[in-house]
Amino acid sequence: MEPISRRSFIAGVCAVVALSGSELPAAANTAVKKLPGGRISVNLKAVPALAKVGGAAKIGSVKGVPVAIARIGTSKYIAFNLLCPHQGVPVVRNEKGWICNAHSSEFEADGDLVLGPATTGLARVPIKVSRNVATLG
Ligand code: FES
Repeated sequence: MEPISRRSFIAGVCAVVALSGSELPAAANTAVKKLPGGRISVNLKAVPALAKVGGAAKIGSVKGVPVAIARIGTSKYIAFNLLCPHQGVPVVRNEKGWICNAHSSEFEADGDLVLGPATTGLARVPIKVSRNVATLG
């Protein structure tokens, strides 16, 4: 076995840390399947961030728009667009919910508005759930 360089070790640790967040890594994501028409299906059981009520995670893109799913009940989920309603900048996940780094609008984990300048919450995306599989779009 070859000795691992310090640089390789640090790069590997950084990759693991980057993948452990609430966002699914697109390349290694087996929970999400692309469907015709730009829609996606999601195996909800394969998304750790959705294991508990109140959890939320960025899932992928529907028709080219970044989307997230939030679990709002034992078997109830909502999906929403991750483009800030103020000027369309993508929001990012933080410990409380979602934040827009352009002008600091804040949103709950379920996309509801907390703080402007945005005047509405994150726009809902159609979602249907059947047997732990969600179809978005
Ligand atoms: S674009 Fe998000 S707050 Fe302005």
